[in-house]
Amino acid sequence: MTSTARAVIDLDVTGDRISRHLYGHFAEHLGRCIYDGFWVGEDSPIPNVRGIRLDIVEALRALDIPNLRWPGGCFADTYHWRDGIGPRQRRPKIANTNWGDVVENNHFGTHEFMDLCDLLGADAYVNGNVGSGTVQEMSEWVEYLTRADDSPMARLRRQNGRDEPWRVPFWGLGNEAWGCGGNMSASFYAEEARRYATFCHEHGGNSLTRIAAGANEDDLEWTRTLMKSLTECHGCTMGGNLPYQAISFHYYTHSGSGINSEAATAFTTAQYYETVAYAAGIERIVRGHVAVMDSYDPQNRVGLVCDEWGTWWNAAEGTNPGFLFQQNTVRDALVAGLHFDVFHRHARRLTMANIAQTVNVLQAMVLTDGENLVLTPTYHVFEMNKGHQDAAGLPVHVLETPTTTVRGDDLDLVSISASTRDDTALVSLTHLSVDAPCTVRVDLRGRAASVVRARVLTGDAASSFNDVDAPERVAPRPLEASLEADGVLVVELPPHSFATVELALG
Ligand code: AHR
Repeated sequence: MTSTARAVIDLDVTGDRISRHLYGHFAEHLGRCIYDGFWVGEDSPIPNVRGIRLDIVEALRALDIPNLRWPGGCFADTYHWRDGIGPRQRRPKIANTNWGDVVENNHFGTHEFMDLCDLLGADAYVNGNVGSGTVQEMSEWVEYLTRADDSPMARLRRQNGRDEPWRVPFWGLGNEAWGCGGNMSASFYAEEARRYATFCHEHGGNSLTRIAAGANEDDLEWTRTLMKSLTECHGCTMGGNLPYQAISFHYYTHSGSGINSEAATAFTTAQYYETVAYAAGIERIVRGHVAVMDSYDPQNRVGLVCDEWGTWWNAAEGTNPGFLFQQNTVRDALVAGLHFDVFHRHARRLTMANIAQTVNVLQAMVLTDGENLVLTPTYHVFEMNKGHQDAAGLPVHVLETPTTTVRGDDLDLVSISASTRDDTALVSLTHLSVDAPCTVRVDLRGRAASVVRARVLTGDAASSFNDVDAPERVAPRPLEASLEADGVLVVELPPHSFATVELALG
């Protein structure tokens, strides 16, 4: 039976700017993300630019990828950047103790990463090593990347073939310091983060957003400790700049039994609803961190960054369990749609987010197999939603939505967000019912509107996915969207679907 949802969007009331960096990405030295993913090497028969795989670059450019986080993740706190510069044949091999315990040849290092960012047109988010590195090592990496004159690190960079400094806007101060990044207490890490950040200098015109490694999910105590330490820091209260400008948190989605414990493509209806409910739960987590940050920083100077999010299923059968390769279904796409609605609603404080991870790992944009490349359902959500990047959020009031009960709590089955730029608006709708279609009526108020294009993403089942044999099984298709005389937009959403409606405003 068809259900009904009703909402109001005020087209003339603009909210916070939705930073394009909420659509950021993450590429770790993990499994086949970098090696046999982004990096195939110059001698590969797979078309590449200086060793970087061309079809991946083209696919990501089509998303307007705003930033890329690298080299980890857990790997970041074991990575020593000097191992990855200079002639490739002379670089030392290293063991990747976090992910599969494989040996890497270090052929993808600082220069290759910055080259990748240039090819993508993306900002670099470099994650430094706090766990097993030193303040000096991190400080010199910043200098190597960003300093123009004849300083020792700038000279070393020139010896390695790069004259001009790069622009590096984002810098991570370690990763998951409460776990793989060093098993530190919040108070110990708070001191470390301030110290490391102090020596990550802004050379020349390079302005650096330093990001402290933040909480796991709803560990608000971690955020509170960092915010207290940051805003009460002596130099800062004396009128100095804050040592770091943002705090991160991580949120992985599963169906409730923990990461890495369920199949990506075979799931029950109950597991499906538990998964999307878990994803929707990020709203509570964001609200919690925002409330803590607001209490220490009412001026909104410190950004909240969700620099790892997405689904985490069992590694696909027959693959190395340490490589975290998983299929990506319509369910994953809906998880992405729900996250973006939450990100848009909290764009005042939430300044960046990075899905984990871009290629061949966890909730990826693209999956590769030899020379083949497949765009995942999640990729299409990023593409359909790209008009929200740097647009102004619009208030959406959901008046009526079908619901279901998941583990005793109500779950809304329709989620909507919207934004505007110039004389256009973009409305995104995520419909979660696994079996019933839904008629959504959206009262567009404040400005005249006309439909330019409407698209829907779904599959025969919530478990539908793309592969080499059927790469377009789950891809955006045209959607019927009508506008009634009184300005009410009407769309019929199939079960388990994500849709976007692009409007021209009068
Ligand atoms: O994305 C995979 C891993 O998940 C990252 O390396 C780590 O930060 C997190 O635990």
